[in-house]
Amino acid sequence: MSKVDVVLGTFFGDEGKGKIIDYLSSHADVSVRCTGGNNAGHTVEANGKKYAFHLIPSGILHKDTKAVIGNGVVVDPKVLLKEIQELKESGIHTDNLYISEKAHVIFPYHIAMDRLLEENRGSGKIGTTARGIGPAYCDKFERCGIRMEDLLSPKFEELVTRNLESKNKIFAFYGKETFDTKAIVEEYQEYAKLLAPYITDTVTLVHEALERDQKVICEGAQATLLDIDFGSYPYVTSSNPTIGGICTGSGIGAKDIGEVYGVLKAYSSRVGEGPYLTEQCNAIGDQIRELGHEYGTTTKRPRRCGWLDLVALKYAVSINGITGLAINHVDTIGKLDKIQLCVGYRHQGKVSMKFTTNESYLSECEPVYEELEGNFGDISQAKSREELPEKAKKYLARIEEVVGVPIKFIGIGPGREDMIVE
Ligand code: GDP
Ligand code: IMO
Ligand code: MG
Repeated sequence: MSKVDVVLGTFFGDEGKGKIIDYLSSHADVSVRCTGGNNAGHTVEANGKKYAFHLIPSGILHKDTKAVIGNGVVVDPKVLLKEIQELKESGIHTDNLYISEKAHVIFPYHIAMDRLLEENRGSGKIGTTARGIGPAYCDKFERCGIRMEDLLSPKFEELVTRNLESKNKIFAFYGKETFDTKAIVEEYQEYAKLLAPYITDTVTLVHEALERDQKVICEGAQATLLDIDFGSYPYVTSSNPTIGGICTGSGIGAKDIGEVYGVLKAYSSRVGEGPYLTEQCNAIGDQIRELGHEYGTTTKRPRRCGWLDLVALKYAVSINGITGLAINHVDTIGKLDKIQLCVGYRHQGKVSMKFTTNESYLSECEPVYEELEGNFGDISQAKSREELPEKAKKYLARIEEVVGVPIKFIGIGPGREDMIVE
């Protein structure tokens, strides 16, 4: 049995990663969130409640599983404290939460910078979540970022002062409000006191677990096509939500990784700008949005919706070395009469499975669809793939055939129990 299993998004996010991680974490000793920040919104529906996790690992509901915020995450302490408080109010304790001392901190000036940059992009805007994610990662790589351990250090005020010296000049140049160092330092020192019990060396924590042959689950946020390297740049997030980000965001080496589960929906969706070949800007897209309740967990924005794109899925499989698929919303797609499945791209008259995120290539591609039967009926009580109606089985089998990877999880509803595990 492999020690580390990984859960990643295969498209543009919101594939239902939270649900899969919650399930896998019930059998794990440690569950690590590796990348992104509170741009993510991971939903878990369990015990008659709906939890939306932004920063807290989706494994937190299992009290015997250590839930780790890894070094690759950017943490807004105010948001994290609110999430901790909300969990406590719903009776979930957070004694099993650990935050990496190396995780970078999001400050109000990152959020202001995120908004300013979007404003300046004009019609070329990315449609970010405006949570300060990009600017926080910029500081990390510029080497002026402030980490969780710095919040507790005597150097903290000096670090904030140095940062604000240059950033305030930019805000002033654009006629924006500037930030007061003292106010930020005082506010964040309060957060530091509250978060101090959780801050630790999570790399050692994870390695000790591995030495004891314990099971570790890694939680990816965002998804392959939002990856800074492999996604549809510049319409991407500022981290690597692909397999490499799992290693660098947790300190886990490649040799310990076993299963890599790629999560997808039986259709597709995207929030924010950027190319999306199988998008349906029509009544079908609207129907999928309503049937699947496709409104952002984080920003509440209506999600762009469309058909499942197997060319892009195959790309995600190769980029990440995906060993198994988790397909959610099979119940949702089964409510449509007819389903279109993109099985190739037509480019300059030739049909192939070639995928690159090159904008001009994509703009010249036309999806080639195959039509399959919908109307699956009520599948909510199915306990195995065998029990699904023939039409649903055919849809799933076709996906596996084109992509060449087995489906291991089948989502038949939003709840924790609404899943067939193969
Ligand atoms: P994540 O960011 O990948 O964790 O996904 P989100 O939580 O943002 O979005 C997934 C949405 O789909 C949530 O509202 C889930 O409750 C819901 N969901 C997940 N799996 C299923 C499924 O199999 N069927 C249905 N109907 N809803 C699902
Ligand atoms: P989960 O983990 C869907 C999108 C934003 C925007 C782009 C850049 O829930 O799947 P950012 O704020 O990261 O700079 O925005 O990325 N985006 C997501 N879309 N799900 C997410 O997370 C996302 N996180 C970022 O909409 O287009
Ligand atoms: Mg989400």
